[in-house]
Amino acid sequence: MARKKITVVGAGNVGATLVQRLAEMELGDIVVVDIPESKGMPAGKALDIQQSAPIFGYDVKITGTTEYGPTKDSDIVVITAGIPRKPGMSRDDLLKTNAGIVGSVTEKIVEQSPNCILIIVSNPLDVMCSVALKKSGFPKHRVIGMAGVLDSSRMRTFLAEALDVSIENVHAMVLGGHGDTMVPLPRFSTVNGIPIPELLSAEKIEAINDRTRKGGAEIVKLLERGSAYYAPSASAAEMCEAILKDKRKILPCACYLEGEYGIDGIFVGVPTKLGTRGIEEIIQLNLTVEERAELMKSAGAVKELIGALG
Ligand code: NAI
Ligand code: 2OP
Repeated sequence: MARKKITVVGAGNVGATLVQRLAEMELGDIVVVDIPESKGMPAGKALDIQQSAPIFGYDVKITGTTEYGPTKDSDIVVITAGIPRKPGMSRDDLLKTNAGIVGSVTEKIVEQSPNCILIIVSNPLDVMCSVALKKSGFPKHRVIGMAGVLDSSRMRTFLAEALDVSIENVHAMVLGGHGDTMVPLPRFSTVNGIPIPELLSAEKIEAINDRTRKGGAEIVKLLERGSAYYAPSASAAEMCEAILKDKRKILPCACYLEGEYGIDGIFVGVPTKLGTRGIEEIIQLNLTVEERAELMKSAGAVKELIGALG
């Protein structure tokens, strides 16, 4: 059986760490692409990761490049390309710059791999997903945003710590846009089936919700330069595995909604079933009035950003 092929666009912190994770998980051959100005950097990182293979024992080929030819016929393409906000740059400037980058990358990827599944990581996530959907012309089940897996993983970490239980027992669900308005759902978060509200006080739960919402900012503040990449790359790798192995795993992902949860025409994080086709199904939860209001508020924030992009 031919090996699967995964392309990672952007050989920066998230991209390069993702390549390492995908190789160690032996999910397929990997191509990592960056801009021509990065010169030998993607090839250097690819060779370095390839030279770890004898120690870890993974039989996959890793190629680093600044061209798109080698990405041909990829099964999955993960887009992590983008720039961080620079001094003097407004949030809107960043939005427009990254939209330009994600748009042009998507066009080049689609020329080489018209049947791939696109996983978007670049920020602002939910809007970049819309750009990729539009530029690719792909059906909506083949354009998926990574955010909910990361936000839920952060919440799981905080819950396991608060309850002093194995991380393996803890599941969490965070929906909505990837920003301050994301919606942690304690009612749908459990410790081996026990709902969180049965185990923690409302105050403790709210403190965890709040830390989850600010999870990305907490890391940025600690790192002082750059943003998180270990948990983000782990999250994207879990999505790749679910798709390539047709695991039909239920994971919160940013999806293009057409009426689900009363939201239409934008990407928002909702529970999905991931398998060979990409998004196999969107799971519709019965939300309370309050949970629903929070999700609508989050969707409103995504719409506002799309409006700013024009
Ligand atoms: P980074 O700055 O380390 O890497 C970005 C890479 O993209 C650089 O190597 C750069 O040269 C490359 N790049 C820029 N324009 C390109 C183009 N046109 N084609 C190919 N490559 C291009 O940044 P990092 O930390 O890897 O983050 C990448 C993106 O992912 C950022 O937008 C970040 O905000 C986002 N992110 C999203 C998360 C999520 O939950 N959705 C989590 C973590 C990061
Ligand atoms: C995060 O949540 C920066 O979106 C990124 O860490």
